Amino acid sequence: MDVISVSGLYKRYGSVIAVDSLDLHVEAGQIFGMLGPNGAGKTTTVEILVGLRERDAGKVSVLGMDPVKKGAEIKSRIGVQLQTYGLYPRLTVKEVVTLFSSFYKKPLSPDDVIEEVGLTTKAKTIVKSLSGGQAQRLAVALAIVGDAELVFLDEPTTGLDPQARRGLWDIINAMKKRGKTVFLTTHYMDEAERLCDKVVVLDHGKIIAQGAPSELIAEHFEELSIEFSNSIDKEQERLESLPGVSRVQFSDNKVTLYTKDVSRTISALMALVQNDSISIDDIVIRRASLEDVFLKLTGRRIRE
Ligand SMILES: Nc1ncnc2c1ncn2[C@@H]1O[C@H](COP(=O)(O)OP(=O)(O)O)[C@@H](O)[C@H]1O
Ligand SMILES: [Mg+2]
Repeated sequence: MDVISVSGLYKRYGSVIAVDSLDLHVEAGQIFGMLGPNGAGKTTTVEILVGLRERDAGKVSVLGMDPVKKGAEIKSRIGVQLQTYGLYPRLTVKEVVTLFSSFYKKPLSPDDVIEEVGLTTKAKTIVKSLSGGQAQRLAVALAIVGDAELVFLDEPTTGLDPQARRGLWDIINAMKKRGKTVFLTTHYMDEAERLCDKVVVLDHGKIIAQGAPSELIAEHFEELSIEFSNSIDKEQERLESLPGVSRVQFSDNKVTLYTKDVSRTISALMALVQNDSISIDDIVIRRASLEDVFLKLTGRRIRE
């Protein structure tokens, strides 16, 4: 059974259509990613799913219930981290995590959770005095302390330093190992690619692509790229005739070969290098990323 099932979800604020005919399904045990730039409609969707905002139209089922009718019951069975939290400014970290743990039947130990998000040294600090990144990690702690079967994380890593981001990826993977379902929003494509079993790409309130990250990439890009630096423009024809190569692109001092057969292309390229003593540097083989998919579908990069 789907843990979350949405069809034809629609929400507008005045003349702004925030969510437009959204259909999505999240299976139990998945890390599900909703990807999109600022203003795409991610937070509005999360708020509707967790029962904080009413929808204008469409069907929504979360853990088999409609958030409009069974909001309280849903809230007792989910964990939620939102971008804007009141967070009880005068309570300490330990107090607020303990308070949230008391809302659930079988919570985790507040101390363990505080440690997991790296706030042990701040346990006695009042919330008001935390830095932005620390407050963000506290918000994640509040989402996971209930050990709920379904956890919503709305851009949990925005504004975190790289180390804290990686720490959070570990936490999310650990939740999955314990059988939890995670609904994650992000505008970091690399994060989604790494973590998510399935993603939907949202733009202007509409889903423009969905699937497993690797499937989505494979669907839009068959070739891998071999990129190296050198100015060997004169070799264009010979590079184009290398086995597997479908396209050759020159820009600045970089040459990019697009190929469906990396190993044959590489061996032929190396032979060319040896025979003609052409030197090439900084070879990078990379596959297309979700970022490339977004760029291809919208003509824009996701980072504003
Ligand atoms: N409370 C609100 N009142 C009016 N417009 C809003 C409100 N919340 C969001 N919006 C608008 O709805 C659109 C979607 O916003 P949001 O769901 O916050 O997107 P995201 O989380 O992807 O950045 C944006 O155009 C935003 O300006
Ligand atoms: Mg948002």
